[in-house]
Amino acid sequence: MNNPIIRTEKLSKIYDSGFRTVALQDVDLQIPKGSLSCIMGPSGHGKSTLLHLIGGLDRPTSGKVFLDDMELTSVDGNRLAEIRSRKIGFVFQFFNLLPVLTALENVQVAMMLAGIGKKEQEERATELLNLVGLEDKLQSKPNQLSGGQRQRVAIARALANDPEILLMDEPSGNLDSRSEEELLEQIAKVNGQGKTVVIVTHSETVAAMAKETFCIRDGELAVD
Ligand SMILES: Nc1ncnc2c1ncn2[C@@H]1O[C@H](COP(=O)(O)OP(=O)(O)O)[C@@H](O)[C@H]1O
Ligand SMILES: [Mg+2]
Repeated sequence: MNNPIIRTEKLSKIYDSGFRTVALQDVDLQIPKGSLSCIMGPSGHGKSTLLHLIGGLDRPTSGKVFLDDMELTSVDGNRLAEIRSRKIGFVFQFFNLLPVLTALENVQVAMMLAGIGKKEQEERATELLNLVGLEDKLQSKPNQLSGGQRQRVAIARALANDPEILLMDEPSGNLDSRSEEELLEQIAKVNGQGKTVVIVTHSETVAAMAKETFCIRDGELAVD
């Protein structure tokens, strides 16, 4: 494959808190630059674990993750946080918005962590919320927004630092079909800008959009 932007080598994760769970085992995965890929598979079989490891949110028990040619799994915590905030946008399954902050502030937080000044934060957050169609909800808090609108704030936040890679964990899991359609439009737009998008999903509608589908079963990459 030409130019994988993400590559894993024998990636394994064993959770051991009282009893052992092999969540992921020897996964070799390659994701081409600029592609739209999805990861499917039954619940509890290791999809989120894989996405977290690719996104540098967690460390594997063994194996490696490469972003371009850089080995993500060998860099220290500070550098990892820096790479993550610059290169990777993550949309969590349950959005993880901060409830006391407005939509605008939730998007700004990501830029604050990347050291961007207040004025630029505000301008860019406004721009991003416009992009996802929430220009009239800048001052709304998460509990004043619908599921689909919260999802769009989470996407705006993930795009805050113009990441090359957007990772989404079951983004339409809590959405009605109309909101899912809007979400797909946003995803197509982002992918059209050249960003690599990886989506964990159970939705056939989402999967139909993807150029590549990977299937995870019992922590292993299954051939489709
Ligand atoms: N932090 C954790 N501690 C212990 N076990 C975990 C943890 N996270 C996930 N697991 C276990 O690892 C397996 C894979 O989980 P996960 O990656 O969340 O699956 P999926 O996203 O496919 O539903 C499951 O058996 C789950 O219970
Ligand atoms: Mg999951």
